[in-house]
Amino acid sequence: KVDFNYAMKAFVECGLDDTALEKYREKARMGLSRLLRLVDEDKAGFVNLPGQDTSAMKKFAKEMSGKFNDLILIGIGGSSLGMETLCGALLPYGHNARSFSQRGAFPRVWVADNVDPAKISAILNECEPEDTFICVITKSGSTVETAANFNVIYEWLDEGAKEPKKHICTITDPEKGTLREISEKEGFPVFPIPDNVGGRFSVLSPVGLLPAALLGIDIDKLLEGAASVTRDKYEKIITLSSIYMYFMENGKNINVLMPYSSRLSSFADWYCQLWGESLGKRTDTDGNIVMFGSTPVKAVGVIDQHSQVQLFKEGPEDKVVTFIEVEKHEKDKKIMAEYDDYGYLEGHSLGELCNIELLTTEAALKNTGKPSVKISVDSLDEYTLGSLFMLWQYVVPVIGLACDIDPFDQPGVEEGKNYAYGLLGKSGYEDMKQKFEEIFTK
Ligand code: PA5
Repeated sequence: KVDFNYAMKAFVECGLDDTALEKYREKARMGLSRLLRLVDEDKAGFVNLPGQDTSAMKKFAKEMSGKFNDLILIGIGGSSLGMETLCGALLPYGHNARSFSQRGAFPRVWVADNVDPAKISAILNECEPEDTFICVITKSGSTVETAANFNVIYEWLDEGAKEPKKHICTITDPEKGTLREISEKEGFPVFPIPDNVGGRFSVLSPVGLLPAALLGIDIDKLLEGAASVTRDKYEKIITLSSIYMYFMENGKNINVLMPYSSRLSSFADWYCQLWGESLGKRTDTDGNIVMFGSTPVKAVGVIDQHSQVQLFKEGPEDKVVTFIEVEKHEKDKKIMAEYDDYGYLEGHSLGELCNIELLTTEAALKNTGKPSVKISVDSLDEYTLGSLFMLWQYVVPVIGLACDIDPFDQPGVEEGKNYAYGLLGKSGYEDMKQKFEEIFTK
C-alpha cells in the first residue's frame, strides 16, 4: 500500500495544482514506457527475473544442506547489499548465535564485503575451514575488493580444508570474466548472473537467491512477491516517481528512506545504493553536463527519531522522507506496566508502539510542511520483501529514464576502480596510474 497524502499536502502548500502535478506524471509515464521498451529489447532483465527457473539453485541448496556450519559470502556493492538485506529481514535475529539444530541445520552466515582486515580476520577466526562453504559473487569477475578477499579466504581454506575446491561456488557473468574462467578451470559450481541484469538490480537473480536458498529462505515466495508488481501497479509507480521528480526539481536534494523496523535496516542500505548509483550522474544520455541526482539517506525508525528526526523536522527544507511501515510485527510483545508511572503502556505492544511512533513522526513532519510518503506492508516476509525490491527497481529507473539519465551505468564507480587497478600495478592500467598521479600533482 502506498500513501501519498502527506506528499500531496506538501504539493498544495508549494502552490502546486493538479495541472502541475500532471506534468510530472506525464514525464513519469514516459520514463515507464522507456523502461518497458528496454525490457522488450532485452536490456533491462531484472523485470523478468520473477519468471526464472530456480530449480538448479534449490537442488544445489538441498545437496549442501546440513554439510557446513558456516557460509561466507564474498562480494561488494550490488553483489552484497541485496543478500545482506535478505539475511537481515528474513533470518531470525541472532541467527549466528543459535546452535546448528536451532538453525535447522542451516549455516551461520558472514558477509566478506569490505577489505577491512579486522573484519575479515574476525570472520576467519570464527570459522573452521573444514566446516565452511564459500560463495564468491561478482558480475564483472574482477572487482578488486572481492578478488582480494577471495584470495585471502582461499589461502585460509587451502591451509585448513582437505579438499578446498569442494568448499567453493561462484556467481558471476554467464560467459566472460576472470571469475568465470577460474571457475571453469577449477570446476567450481557456477551460477550465472544474466547478462542484462546489472549489479544493483541483481538481488532477485542468483546473487541474492542462491545465498538465500542456502540459508533456508523461500526463494519462490520472494519471486512471487516481486511478480506481484505488474501492470496494475503502474499507476502507483508513476505517482511515486512523479512525486520524487517534482521534489528533486524543487530543492529537495535529500531522499530519506526510513523503515520502521530494524529488520529492514539493510534494506535502506540496498536502497541507498540503488538510488545513488542509478541517479547520481554528471551527464545526461545526450552527453550534456547536468549533475543530476539527490542524496539518499538511511534512517531507521524508531531509533532515528532520537537522532535525525530533529533535523528532518526543523532543519532545511531539502528532504522528502519515505516511511516503510510493517503493519503486523512478527513476535510482537505485549507490555505489562510493572510500575504505576508506566501505566499508560499497559496492554499496548512493542509493535503497536513502533507504528504509533511512525504516525506521530509523519504528523510532526506534516505539521511543518515537510513532505513524506508511506509504504505499508501487512507483514515482513519473503513475499512482501520481494514486492518492495521490485517496486523500487521500477521507480528508480523510471525517474532516471524520464529525466534522460542512464540509470543502469556507473561511470563514476568505474573510474575509481580503474585508478585502483593502476596503483596496484594491474597490467593494462598503466595509463590510469599516470592519470591518477596527474590529478594529485595538479
Ligand atoms: O551496481 C553495480 O553495478 C555495482 O555496485 C556493482 O555491483 C559493484 O561494483 C560490484 O561489482 P561486481 O559484481 O562486478 O563485483
